[in-house]
Amino acid sequence: MVLKKGDIVEVSVTDLAYGGKGVGKLNGLVVLVRGGLPGDTLKVKIEKKKKNFAEGSVVEVLKASEKRISPVCSHFGLCGGCTWQNLDYEAQLIYKEKTVRESLRHLGGFSDFETEKIIRSDEIYFYRNKMEFSFGKDLEGKLILGLHPYEDFKRVFNLQKCHLQSELSSQIVWWVRDFCAKEELIPYDPKEHTGFLRYLAIREGKSKTEMMVNLVTYSGQFPQAKKFASGLMEDFPQIKTVVRNINTKFADIAFGEEEEVLTGKGTIQEKLGRFHFEISANSFFQTNTRQAEKLFNIVTDYAELEGSEEVLDLYSGTGAISFFLAQKAKRVTGIESVKDSVENAFRNAELNSVMNCRFLLGEAKEVLLSLVQESFSPQVIVVDPPRGGMHKKVISLMLEIKPERIIYVSCNPTTLARDLQVLAEKDYILEKVQPVDMFPQTYHIEAVAKLRRK
Ligand SMILES: C[S@@+](CC[C@H](N)C(=O)[O-])C[C@H]1O[C@@H](n2cnc3c(N)ncnc32)[C@H](O)[C@@H]1O
Repeated sequence: MVLKKGDIVEVSVTDLAYGGKGVGKLNGLVVLVRGGLPGDTLKVKIEKKKKNFAEGSVVEVLKASEKRISPVCSHFGLCGGCTWQNLDYEAQLIYKEKTVRESLRHLGGFSDFETEKIIRSDEIYFYRNKMEFSFGKDLEGKLILGLHPYEDFKRVFNLQKCHLQSELSSQIVWWVRDFCAKEELIPYDPKEHTGFLRYLAIREGKSKTEMMVNLVTYSGQFPQAKKFASGLMEDFPQIKTVVRNINTKFADIAFGEEEEVLTGKGTIQEKLGRFHFEISANSFFQTNTRQAEKLFNIVTDYAELEGSEEVLDLYSGTGAISFFLAQKAKRVTGIESVKDSVENAFRNAELNSVMNCRFLLGEAKEVLLSLVQESFSPQVIVVDPPRGGMHKKVISLMLEIKPERIIYVSCNPTTLARDLQVLAEKDYILEKVQPVDMFPQTYHIEAVAKLRRK
């Protein structure tokens, strides 16, 4: 039988792919099924047919996997967020650990390394300290505020309640939606480049429940700004600051070229380990505070510092990993490309009386090149790049430096495998990798890899 788009077929799911889809086979052809779980037998509608695989969606569950559970969220299935909310948490952990191990084996070509048992998250719902909600319009032109449907970044659905950030955050979404509708504020139209409202970002310091509301808009007057900020502060005493970020670029991201602090200090406080952090709207901070503490303890452990080492923390954000490492190093140098993050890092060093850290602002490949030209030679390099992994030039500069140990923190096992393969081709051995679940209910997985110089 030659499979084609629109066919309805029966598929037994045996595995999960990175990206969250169930994997089955039909006449030797791999079929990826959104919402399918290992152990399921499903009636599937084929939606895409490529040379080597097909993709489809569930029409009917003929036999349910023993690991299948009822999702808690009313948006499950539509929302692009929690793709695994129908999978028992213990099973999520097993598949995440397997993903890390198999990516390193099959994509990285590694065979002789240890995969530590995955570290589970204590909180499996309401664990995020930051969420970004999008504005849009429904078919009647009415304002909506919520999240994107699965793999559809052009549309938005109205959020009732999200199970990843606190209940308070969902209440703030309702409040802001109501306010903007009453004030007749217009959602931004990315095609026409018109309108005003782009994103609502809510940040929450978990240690003291301090919240920040960040309204990301296109350019233009916001005469209701005072009313917006004071109304929020009055109705939600947990909100300590309200800011507006102006994004006039085509890139649809919740990041502003210009920030106006509408009320409060423009920052909130968070605590990680013994360190206090001031975080502003455009700075990076790990989204699962409790798991971040565990993650950074592993990084510190893998770094094997004795106190005399120069350490490089590449992609240093607001300085969190640097501070953990600085407790046991001579000096830590952080490199980070976002100005607000670097400013926060300096402020946070002061706040915590950390005297042996410096932070350099700029593109990793450029700042690192100038450090190499000055004969900077750290014994340990920690890297924590974004999902796309590291630039080739950064890797070759690291190989030029020849540190004793490299600790790679990654939120994407495929780019981790790719980058580690280049590092290991020359001078490094992959000793071990520790998967950490920072993102329950999603297929996303964090991992820390330890490399030692041959
Ligand atoms: C995954 S975060 C890690 C931050 C930090 N290590 C932490 O755990 O809090 C990646 C960081 O890399 C920064 N970044 C992204 N691309 C960069 C580049 N080309 N050069 C330097 N920093 C970059 C981002 O702004 C972000 O702060």
